[in-house]
Amino acid sequence: MTKTIDGKAVAKKVNDATQVAVSELVAQGIQPGIVVIIVGEDPASKIYVRNKNRKAEKLGMHSVVRQLPDTTTQAELLAIIEAYNADDSIHGILVQSPLPKQINEPLVTMAIDPHKDVDGFHPAYVGKLVTNYPGHYPVANTPRGIMTMLKEYGVDPAGKTAVVIGRSTIVGKPMAALLTNANATVTIAHSRTKDLKAVAKTADILVVATGIAHLITGDDIKPGATVIDVGMDRDEHGKLVGDVDFESAQGVAGLITPVPGGVGPMTIATLMQTTVELAKWSDKRE
Ligand code: GUN
Repeated sequence: MTKTIDGKAVAKKVNDATQVAVSELVAQGIQPGIVVIIVGEDPASKIYVRNKNRKAEKLGMHSVVRQLPDTTTQAELLAIIEAYNADDSIHGILVQSPLPKQINEPLVTMAIDPHKDVDGFHPAYVGKLVTNYPGHYPVANTPRGIMTMLKEYGVDPAGKTAVVIGRSTIVGKPMAALLTNANATVTIAHSRTKDLKAVAKTADILVVATGIAHLITGDDIKPGATVIDVGMDRDEHGKLVGDVDFESAQGVAGLITPVPGGVGPMTIATLMQTTVELAKWSDKRE
């Protein structure tokens, strides 16, 4: 029997706690604030950004969406980031990926005040994550949310074989680090991996983040495995589907996240959680 992981239910639990934390901060005169900067008209990005904004407002946060034209120059974007770095009403700055070609993503990452880096993409944070450094710092929200879901469903990575398909900065690499820190034996696989499907089949915990609709089917899954589908793809009919063929995984996987209703709501809930943490830490800076 395959059980579906209810990402919406776990997200609700996280959001409920965030709402309480927001009220407590507001009572102390701090309203957590987030700005999401979106450059260009990518339709999927626009949907994510709208959902993030709605959730932030619903939780009582100060939420700004800054929509910029796809002709925005590097200098213009950096100047806008600088202005939010200096804006005390903003605790978290997120520049939505993907960005147009003229924008140098690493420079954008470095331009964000690390105290406001709600994605945890600054190399100092990535270094802390990889070294399993103690203390408080932001960690990429999609993988962090996945760890919350695994915990909620009683999946302890310790001693398990984990395979992460995809090596992005947003998901694959931080996911592999978090699973390693949780004592899993981790393989990062990607488009150049030989016999990718055989590698996938070794996984007790399989995280798929490729952007390729239905890349993984039931035949590629180890019986009883926990399957986390990060994909948000469109099939040939324009329907939202994941990187895993949910139907053929039935009866093979032990636990599986659906698309939609799995990783998506958890990412947004975790982003809100991180924003509140940045707001909390903002008056305790060294
Ligand atoms: N695009 C898709 N997911 C993310 C994310 O978590 N952070 C940023 N900055 N862009 C994204």
